[in-house]
Amino acid sequence: MNVEGKKALVFGGTSGIGLATVKRLTDLGAKAVAISRNPDRARDALPGITLKACDVRDGDAVAALCKEYAPYDILVSAATGGERATGPFLKMDMEGYKSSFAKLWGYANCVRFGAEHLAKDGSIVLVSGAPARRSRPGQIALASVGGAVEAFVRGVAPELAPRRINVVSPGVINTPMFGPASPERDALADKRCAGHLIPRAGTADEVAQAILFLIQNDFVTGTTVDVDGGWLLT
Ligand SMILES: NC(=O)c1ccc[n+]([C@@H]2O[C@H](COP(=O)([O-])OP(=O)(O)OC[C@H]3O[C@@H](n4cnc5c(N)ncnc54)[C@H](OP(=O)(O)O)[C@@H]3O)[C@@H](O)[C@H]2O)c1
Repeated sequence: MNVEGKKALVFGGTSGIGLATVKRLTDLGAKAVAISRNPDRARDALPGITLKACDVRDGDAVAALCKEYAPYDILVSAATGGERATGPFLKMDMEGYKSSFAKLWGYANCVRFGAEHLAKDGSIVLVSGAPARRSRPGQIALASVGGAVEAFVRGVAPELAPRRINVVSPGVINTPMFGPASPERDALADKRCAGHLIPRAGTADEVAQAILFLIQNDFVTGTTVDVDGGWLLT
């Protein structure tokens, strides 16, 4: 797909990976809508871009927003959804574990209600995470949710065809998910990657680049692209 002149909805498009994706899309001439619960915070970072408020956990709100902007060619969701539980599973609060799946429910809403207004040659990209296929201690909730997202994408791809759906799996990416930008955040993000084949944290733009690849390449569907600095081999 040549994204020039195409219309894109980017859930979670007001921060980190989603925001970098909105920037890349608009740099290439697409018309993007950046969506999150509190989109106003992106007003300075995304001048001239349409910002919309919507909580991906609210299926009716997602359906209404998709109808409002229909038809469109590209749908990306990088929305975190809610808090994820961390720590040893055998000591984990089960409500915390269950609520970690807000990310999956949000993605499911975006696909369920977003697909019906997506162009026949349209493309959907979701974001999982490296723990889906290589969990580290304390990451069982992240692993479970990421694995579910990747299985969901593989499972739903045949139903969506000829429209395409893929997922990008990031490793540690230095974004506002780890707090406001600061030298301390940079150092901590890099420290988490010590010993990786590429021993630094990734950038939001490096993940956005993979999201753009999956949108642009018409021969890719139902698969996962890893942008993880070698996490899976480390
Ligand atoms: N950063 C990493 O190291 C990393 C690693 C692996 C996977 N990931 C995944 O990559 C995705 C993007 O992460 P990021 O690092 O870019 O995080 P981020 O900078 O915190 O951005 C998350 C975005 O999602 C939006 N959002 C969160 N919950 C939402 C909801 N319920 N409804 C609508 N929008 C919602 C946020 O805006 P509002 O708060 O305004 O709603 C924000 O725009 C997430 O799915 C994350 O799990 C990140």
